Amino acid sequence: MTSRKTALSLRFALAAAALAALPLMGSSVAMAEEGEGVPEECALTISGDDQMQFDQKELSVPSSCETVSLTLEHTGSMDASAMGHNWVLAPTDAYEEIAQAGMQAGPDAGYLPEDDRIIAATDIIGGGESTTVEFSTADLAGQDLTFFCSFPGHYAMMNGTFTVTE
Ligand code: CO
Repeated sequence: MTSRKTALSLRFALAAAALAALPLMGSSVAMAEEGEGVPEECALTISGDDQMQFDQKELSVPSSCETVSLTLEHTGSMDASAMGHNWVLAPTDAYEEIAQAGMQAGPDAGYLPEDDRIIAATDIIGGGESTTVEFSTADLAGQDLTFFCSFPGHYAMMNGTFTVTE
């Protein structure tokens, strides 16, 4: 978990550094944080509830988005230990395997295994909380991707398609 998050953070830091090095890029892009400064079409919000449901089954962003900012809101009231949700993105042909391995990984690992196929993942949150993850769309256009919650028992109901449109 720690090394995966570090890798994601490092990837974003490198992207931000690359943007900052371009004097013609707006500072709002280089300073992107928790969705602020990311173009509107590149900032997504999805919610999960106490009924073990996401409010959307399909998410998409245009390939012009270099960085996607995804915010997950838990609109319920149950604690993260009982009805925790996260938002995880992976290739469709890998997500079930990752979700099942996540159960074994346990809560301290955010119910996620160490797996290079995980493209992005938020923390696990409980009712009333929200969390944001930012990730690059590089190489994702045209891929068959699925988002899901890796909390034990949730992925079969809490999943949907993620598309980076060409
Ligand atoms: Co969940």
